[in-house]
Amino acid sequence: MTIAFIDLKAQQIRIRDKVEEGLKKVLNHGAYIMGPEVTALECRLGEWTGVEHNISCSSGTDALLLALMGLELKAGQGVIVPSFTFAASAEVMPMLGAVPVFAEVEESTFNLDPEKLASALAAAKLAGIDVVGIIGVGLFGQPANYVAIRDFAKDKGLWLIDDAAQSFGSRLHDQPVGQLADVTCTSFFPAKPLGAYGDGGAVFTNDAKIAEIIRSCRVHGMGKDKYENIRIGMTGRLDSMQAIVLDAKLDIFAEELVLRQHIADQYSILLDGIVETPTLGAGATSSWAQYVIKLPQGTNRASLIQELTRSDVPTAIYYPIPMHHQPPYKQYPISACNLPVTLDLCKRVLALPMHPYLGRDQQKYIVTTLKAALE
Ligand SMILES: Cc1ncc(COP(=O)(O)O)c(C=O)c1O
Repeated sequence: MTIAFIDLKAQQIRIRDKVEEGLKKVLNHGAYIMGPEVTALECRLGEWTGVEHNISCSSGTDALLLALMGLELKAGQGVIVPSFTFAASAEVMPMLGAVPVFAEVEESTFNLDPEKLASALAAAKLAGIDVVGIIGVGLFGQPANYVAIRDFAKDKGLWLIDDAAQSFGSRLHDQPVGQLADVTCTSFFPAKPLGAYGDGGAVFTNDAKIAEIIRSCRVHGMGKDKYENIRIGMTGRLDSMQAIVLDAKLDIFAEELVLRQHIADQYSILLDGIVETPTLGAGATSSWAQYVIKLPQGTNRASLIQELTRSDVPTAIYYPIPMHHQPPYKQYPISACNLPVTLDLCKRVLALPMHPYLGRDQQKYIVTTLKAALE
């Protein structure tokens, strides 16, 4: 049995004709970057998010960078971010000379723990860092508890970014991702729930001023045209061919989200009593970018993975090392609690194959193989 960790080929069969047709159009008109397909995609993304400004860009990392530029983050200022995340969530602060302040996540959802935000703020204060905002991450597909996080941010006068690179398409208390923070960023990296065939990303906001700065920064800080440069920006545009792919994938995205939920439900049933399965926070849905289990305490994860690999079950570890232990990030403040949940998760998590086209037999084989390897 061949099992793909993420099966982009099965998906491509469904969209290939539309993609080929669209690519031909781009080849004919020749507007390769920010062509009419990009404008059309931004409108279509707006239908998903329901927010005013839907700005495509060159990657999820650039989306975060543009969001921080839009919020006018200054060198030396601090931004609270979970340590249990992909590097990009924290990387964008030092890129602007600012400071990531590492905070703890919840054991149940893997997302930023609203109860522990005060301790991150206190650690930053002790280090003499002026915190101006929070980046929450919708890890593995479900939004963080933005109801409580927003309350905290409001109370302390901080802005809030949702790093929804993995969670685009999910909802919290019926509000779609895009509406849960002041600015939301997503990634169209090919393996993401909504992925292109190359790099891409988008920023969503209802704030006209932030949107204007982001649009300007996306093209080298342009003013009335690209040869008037009114601020320092970057090259952060999306190309038309990626917009074609994303448009085709949006046709089947809603259906794929249902299929992903179905796969997750099936895993929860099959894995019951074997390992800790992922749980959703109150009011949250997930786009199930990853299906991440927690192995029993003391499991030798490396040899378990070897055994699964021998049986052709692909797995991945998201994430083996917390950001605050990565060499370039060790200098930055962390919550006084020293992030025990984060450290435990890094040792115990394991991502199983997850995509909308995973077959029932494949899931059964994965679980049987995992169970045998654990015994
Ligand atoms: C949580 C998170 N943030 C940001 C990014 C960055 O996205 P990209 O790879 O498109 O730059 C990723 C991508 O893996 C991610 O998982």
